[in-house]
Amino acid sequence: MKHKILEGKKGIIFGALDDQSIAWKTAESVADAGGKFVLTNAPVALRMGTINLLAEKTGSKVIAADATSIDNLNSLIDQSQEILGGNLDFVLHSIGMSVNVRKGKHYTDLNHDWMAKGWDVSAVSFHKLMQCLYKKDAMNSWGSIVALSYVAAQRTFPNYNDMADNKAYLESIARSFGYFFGKNKKVRVNTISQSPTLTTAGKGVQGLDGFLNYAEKMSPLGNATAKECADYTVSLFSDYTKKVTLQNLFHDGGFSNVGVSQEVIDSLSNSE
Ligand SMILES: NC(=O)c1ccc[n+]([C@@H]2O[C@H](COP(=O)([O-])OP(=O)(O)OC[C@H]3O[C@@H](n4cnc5c(N)ncnc54)[C@H](O)[C@@H]3O)[C@@H](O)[C@H]2O)c1
Repeated sequence: MKHKILEGKKGIIFGALDDQSIAWKTAESVADAGGKFVLTNAPVALRMGTINLLAEKTGSKVIAADATSIDNLNSLIDQSQEILGGNLDFVLHSIGMSVNVRKGKHYTDLNHDWMAKGWDVSAVSFHKLMQCLYKKDAMNSWGSIVALSYVAAQRTFPNYNDMADNKAYLESIARSFGYFFGKNKKVRVNTISQSPTLTTAGKGVQGLDGFLNYAEKMSPLGNATAKECADYTVSLFSDYTKKVTLQNLFHDGGFSNVGVSQEVIDSLSNSE
């Protein structure tokens, strides 16, 4: 995609860990579309990941920030405004983590301290981020804020564990904060509900392989890739979607509206 629809726009991209990350692909697509941005991730992720390669490739600066820390977020926003020379037009929240998923805890036997930690990182961080941006008046009018979600917010997927609850909360925050951001700052807030994708966070979900194949067979257009999600996000950062807000937008090849596909029926039918 080489249309420069983000020319002149500036923002912050959270969550690029490695070249599989949805945020990594988004940074590449935003750069291709002419946007300028600061990359950020948690300090531990900066040590473990390869974000500097992405920074070099896209001509971006990297700033460490734990998205659960108000101090870190305020400092990130201040530094980003200084580096980019003014207010922001777009922000991507591409952050998710469940300690219970990582440690293989079953949903019926959760550690609730870990549940609270995952909720803080995966959902409340979105509120913290928007509150910092709002109070600082750091977004330009007609700016766009996007977070990534998953259909387990609406429907049960047993292995998605407490991340399902975190995503439901995240989507609700997008609507609740999006109201005030729209009304008072003319900024839009949306979540993208993306297909299952092979990334570090995705691989944490038990049985992801079988699940990816199932989703592929259920979706008329097939699963959406991370690159396709990135390109969709570019459209949401652009002026072509100025009146889209408070939405949870399914980017899943049609999966969320299919009851059952012929392929799945065929694979379950007794052969004659
Ligand atoms: N992979 C999938 O199947 C899938 C599907 C739908 C939605 N999503 C969502 O997409 C988003 C990005 O995930 P991904 O699949 O690209 O995986 P990923 O593992 O590449 O990205 C997750 C990111 O969250 C960051 N992070 C964790 N704790 C943080 C903290 N305290 N502060 C700042 N950053 C922190 C990680 O460092 C990492 O970069 C997540 O919200 C995820 O839930 C993923």
